[in-house]
Amino acid sequence: MRDPFNVVFIGAGNVMFGSPEGAWNQALRWEQKLGARLNMLAIVDPDLPRVQRTLDGKRGDASLRNSYANTEAFSAVADLVAAYKGKEDTIRAIVVGTPPAFRGGLAKGTDIELQIIKAFPKAQLFIEKPVAAGSVKDAYTVGETIESDGNRIVGVAYMLRYLKAVGHIRKVIAERGLTVMATHARYATAYNAVAKPFWWDKSLSGGPVVEQATHFCDLSRFFGGSVVPGSVQARATEWNEPAGQLAKMLVDESKIPEEQRIPRVTSANWKYESGGVGSLLHVVAARSRFFADGHLFKLEDPYGKPLLRIRTPASDEEETLTFPGDDPFYSEVDAFVDAVESGSSQGILSSFKDACGTYELTWDIRTASERK
Ligand SMILES: NC(=O)c1ccc[n+]([C@@H]2O[C@H](COP(=O)([O-])OP(=O)(O)OC[C@H]3O[C@@H](n4cnc5c(N)ncnc54)[C@H](O)[C@@H]3O)[C@@H](O)[C@H]2O)c1
Repeated sequence: MRDPFNVVFIGAGNVMFGSPEGAWNQALRWEQKLGARLNMLAIVDPDLPRVQRTLDGKRGDASLRNSYANTEAFSAVADLVAAYKGKEDTIRAIVVGTPPAFRGGLAKGTDIELQIIKAFPKAQLFIEKPVAAGSVKDAYTVGETIESDGNRIVGVAYMLRYLKAVGHIRKVIAERGLTVMATHARYATAYNAVAKPFWWDKSLSGGPVVEQATHFCDLSRFFGGSVVPGSVQARATEWNEPAGQLAKMLVDESKIPEEQRIPRVTSANWKYESGGVGSLLHVVAARSRFFADGHLFKLEDPYGKPLLRIRTPASDEEETLTFPGDDPFYSEVDAFVDAVESGSSQGILSSFKDACGTYELTWDIRTASERK
């Protein structure tokens, strides 16, 4: 094989290998980016039968067989570490896609990144969002630790930053010297397709803002900049209120402790350091808006066929832009692999430390929404 690119996946769930839930599927993008160069050294997941089913599928496909021919399955990072004693540097990149409760922390059982950087000092890291499910302070410490040597390439999977439509908005803002005055993000989840029990349990996922609306909080920060500490105000509709009743849940919520059940609606607003204002409504429809002096940028359907509407002071007519074939999941892997090969993080749009800023914002929203 020409110049193989050795990768390890930690987690073998939906985000890594795809599901009917959505377009995410890390493996597919790594296969597209690297083709025959992809060499999947190992997959780590306590659900070994799931790993085996995945490997059987990959090996059954002639175009992928070689990439997965020698993939080893491990049930824990400790087993990977033990197996790679003496050949640590053969791993070029590690993609971490477990539920957040197992990573982004300092305590045992939540410290996947710290285990990895200790055992594999030369491996580059691509990490799923959100960066953690525990303390914000600990997440920042993890970020500082993994980025401390300055040489490690680290990317976080805030893929909406890689949308061409988002790049276009940033270009127009920069070219016209605009300042973002307000961001307004709305998102609704098709909850009747979410069958993962951890998603419905705040103690495991952090809740729907921390776990999911995080993408829109992150995009808001990408445009609005740093959020003023303590400025977040929020309200929620809780699971036990009349407006919070759901008829089509796929999980049995009675098994989740009442205090860990997720809110159904969260509405929040905050101030940016620039003086601008941000707002989020997690429930109704996937729409995001960014306002800048005389300009209005509306980004619709970011997960599907992104549509960007721009209004400028020059006209009442909206300019509508589409971006056929744009795949931010591919673009984030493309940028990460290019960074690993070039040694420069320049193309990576989401660093761990910056992603901690989004994590902090989502926790501030959750905490404010739970205030009685
Ligand atoms: N960027 C996106 O658009 C996007 C989309 C979906 C999910 N995600 C994120 O990906 C993460 C995983 O979500 P998912 O949908 O794949 O969940 P999932 O439940 O489908 O899969 C998680 C997998 O992780 C495994 N796992 C649990 N603990 C582990 C450990 N300590 N080490 C290794 N594997 C472990 C589980 O056995 C399971 O197979 C979450 O943080 C989620 O927010 C991101």
